[in-house]
Amino acid sequence: METKFKNNGSFSIKNVDQLSYTYFPLCNNKGMKSNITPQLNGSLNLDQDSFMLLPTSNEDFHNSFMNRNVYFRVNNTVWSITGNTPHQMLNKDEVSIEAEFLVHTIHRKNSNFKTEIKSFVSASNNREYHKVTLTNTTRNNLHIKPVLNIPLFSRSGENLRDHRHVTSLLNKATLLENGLVNQPTFVFNESGHYINKKTYDIQFFSEQLTLKNYWPILEEFVGDGYNLLLPKVVKTDFNNEYKTGDSVTGYEITGGFEFNSITLKESESMELYFSLGIDSNDNNLSKTTYEKALKETYEYWSQLLNQLTFEMKDSDFSSWTKWVTIQPTLRRLFGNSFLPHHDYGKGGRGWRDLWQDQLSLLLMDAKTVRSSLINSFKGVRIDGSNATIIGEKPGEFKSDRNNIPRVWMDHGSWPLLTIKLYIDKTGDLEILNKHVSYFDDGFTHYTKKVQKINQSTYQGSIIEHLIIQNLVPYFNVGEHENCKLEDADWNDGLDMASSKGESIAFTALYGHNLIELSHLLLTQKEHGNITITLLKDLDILFEAKDITNNSSKRRVLDRYFDAVSQNKHRNKSYDIVLLASLFKEYGNRLLNQVRDNEWLFNNKLGYFNSYYDNDGMRIDSINKEQINLTPQVFAILSNAATNEQIKKIVESVDLLLFDSSVGGYRLNTNYNEIKTNMGRLFGFGYGHKENGAMFTHMAVMYANALYRRGFVREGYKVLDTIYTYVSDINQSKIYPGLPEYVDQRGRGMYPYLTGSASWYLLTLVEEVFGIKGHLGKVLLDPKLVKEDFKNSTASVTTLVNHKRITFSYHNFHNLDYGEYQIANVYSNKKETYTLNYTEKGSLIIEEIIDAHIHIKLSPIKK
Ligand code: G1P
Repeated sequence: METKFKNNGSFSIKNVDQLSYTYFPLCNNKGMKSNITPQLNGSLNLDQDSFMLLPTSNEDFHNSFMNRNVYFRVNNTVWSITGNTPHQMLNKDEVSIEAEFLVHTIHRKNSNFKTEIKSFVSASNNREYHKVTLTNTTRNNLHIKPVLNIPLFSRSGENLRDHRHVTSLLNKATLLENGLVNQPTFVFNESGHYINKKTYDIQFFSEQLTLKNYWPILEEFVGDGYNLLLPKVVKTDFNNEYKTGDSVTGYEITGGFEFNSITLKESESMELYFSLGIDSNDNNLSKTTYEKALKETYEYWSQLLNQLTFEMKDSDFSSWTKWVTIQPTLRRLFGNSFLPHHDYGKGGRGWRDLWQDQLSLLLMDAKTVRSSLINSFKGVRIDGSNATIIGEKPGEFKSDRNNIPRVWMDHGSWPLLTIKLYIDKTGDLEILNKHVSYFDDGFTHYTKKVQKINQSTYQGSIIEHLIIQNLVPYFNVGEHENCKLEDADWNDGLDMASSKGESIAFTALYGHNLIELSHLLLTQKEHGNITITLLKDLDILFEAKDITNNSSKRRVLDRYFDAVSQNKHRNKSYDIVLLASLFKEYGNRLLNQVRDNEWLFNNKLGYFNSYYDNDGMRIDSINKEQINLTPQVFAILSNAATNEQIKKIVESVDLLLFDSSVGGYRLNTNYNEIKTNMGRLFGFGYGHKENGAMFTHMAVMYANALYRRGFVREGYKVLDTIYTYVSDINQSKIYPGLPEYVDQRGRGMYPYLTGSASWYLLTLVEEVFGIKGHLGKVLLDPKLVKEDFKNSTASVTTLVNHKRITFSYHNFHNLDYGEYQIANVYSNKKETYTLNYTEKGSLIIEEIIDAHIHIKLSPIKK
């Protein structure tokens, strides 16, 4: 197999039937979510309670035949557009896929005919459209009986293992002239049934075919003694009495439509359109409405993707990046649910994912993200914890998917990274002073206590929210003075060490954040603010400067928790400079803690310990060569690691975690132990998911951290290894894009919905191209290596203050990083930009004059 790209980023793969377990997402921003395989398997739904097609997990692809399906009986042999018939299993079709944004086409060829099915979810209404074409490729006439069959689930995903049969008794399908609509009577829920209002409809259209029989009951369609590989209705000929307007109740429903046979002469084709709608009023399927929907869909995705494009390395890489660019949008639309691997999700998004996805959405348009950022702060509790599930509507939050309150100790750290990027890009410092409410679901004291929900009207500024989120962990430290792990950190699988567990990675990040907060306060000072008004209860934390040991710190924190749970919130004005210096002091203490006390080394290796377990013991050991990537990443990124330490980390990580057979850097070495004092991940087989897989998110963040600290070749190696591995379909077995991880046998897993995509894009724009924001202006700090150039040029197009701007670096001397400097910057009309320099020597473009900025690189003058 080979993935062949076209210039616009679309791709095709021949012999795609050699690939199992692989699927393609289709969706829109109106709520419709779908996935489709070369066998047309996959689900279609709006939310957890409205699955039109059977909810599908990855293993269902080869054991379920409840696919979207069109059968053809040709001269007495039964064929299917899915390939799932006894005949086609023995006599394989030639199958290829063509994938566009976001349109999926499957081509099949056999000795008699070829078929094509083009499928997409419309950008403008909640319908999934399909066009089926069959062409006679023989010299003879083909006599064909076409049968369309779409088994409908039409109910909540919960009903898959909860009253599946009983809920089929609720079905009520009405036959339409060109289809069928099913509207089950109830939504079945033993804690309170209610009348169902949702409709699930199928429509078909063909200029050549005429309907012969409706087959709305699945068991009748299949027939006694038959199955969905060879249904009785397709194999044999018999009639029934159904007519337009009839209703069928109390059975599993299928959109079964048998058409009168037609004859196709040599090279003649027949076309059949069909569409599936959830709560959609459109009842006018025709060739024209199909084509209009297709055009709107192409336009929607191409407009979105044009906002961020890369031209570098080679054309394949540029095309591949488009499939990465679409990923953060897919995660915004799907959350962590509803694609086949994400079979645990019930909708909504996780807190850390929300903030990290916004990193890349900021690259696509910083200004439009403003209201979403502001609303997101309404999920922060006044004790520094937060709601964990984000609902569909802006500002809608829930405590937890399963109503178990818990604290992921990393959560407080992400918003600051996103806000910092936003301010750099836009210069909108004012956002920090915007007042929003706090989330109150009754949980206080970092969710350890509950009280009556208080309808407090108190609102604090966004900077106050950030201060609370980052200051509380400073006080919430364990026996070894690192931030407590609580119920897990970034690594969801570390969920069994809430008493004594400590996270070194996030001790470093909180340290970094406190220093960032200090910078932000000083920037405010430069803009004329001498004081800042904050919650008076914060005094408790501000006045504890001399307290440095863990138990005293936690006592201080308890006082703060007690105070804020009283809900008597008052304000006080603070001196900005004093606060800035306090945060710097607090931040440096955390960084020093990591740098000095968690560094493990011998004469061969050197790296940071990752965690303390629930017995208060270090989990990593230099003698046993046990290492975890996460603390290395955060120590590098936060400046806790010195340059000397980074060199040692790189050597150690290369030695202990690099594995080219899985695409690069694994998350950890094998602990060979089910660590019940750490978390569930130690129960996973080694090399799977959070137990030592190449976990793309952390690997890409490793690259980001290395680039930030000037370890450019090392960062490049990480990004390039991942790309080279995952883009080879024969190894990774996935379509283009980043998977969440690569498993032990090398397969890319959980594709499309992963935070690594945001970090990959962020790293390319901000670090590799070095197009950074500087209080709303553009700062150039390129770290391109010579392999990044394509015909001496590397370009990125991104939105700068709503305008699409292309930045092209020209490297006519084929110079590597470290050998070049920026010679001059000019516009398309060859006008030279006047440049200014920051204190650290980076170059700032004061004013952009046209949509294409050229940057010429020349050898560094020695
Ligand atoms: C997923 C989750 C993310 C979590 C990570 C590690 O990663 O979405 O919240 O931090 O697993 O447990 P993703 O690849 O989606 O970023």
